[in-house]
Amino acid sequence: MEPLLDVKGLRTEFATGEGIVHAVNGISYTVMPGEAVGLVGESGCGKSISALSLLNLFPKPGYIP
Ligand SMILES: Nc1ncnc2c1ncn2[C@@H]1O[C@H](COP(=O)(O)OP(=O)(O)O)[C@@H](O)[C@H]1O
Ligand SMILES: [Mg+2]
Repeated sequence: MEPLLDVKGLRTEFATGEGIVHAVNGISYTVMPGEAVGLVGESGCGKSISALSLLNLFPKPGYIP
């Protein structure tokens, strides 16, 4: 069966005045049809930005290098 979603080494960064924030630092996972996936982690670990990155909806000045 083919994955519904296949994420490989996703990175998202923010260039700030104090340097580059590595908001998402190389995550990989697959979601198969019919699977439900939960993303768990401490505040600020990148849950929201990684999900938004799948749709290119992360806020500026974020970018995928
Ligand atoms: N607009 C932004 N500029 C700079 N850093 C940001 C911005 N938005 C989020 N971040 C940083 O990206 C990291 C991940 O944030 P986020 O995905 O919102 O965390 P979570 O949803 O897991 O609490 C955090 O370190 C946060 O401070
Ligand atoms: Mg969040």
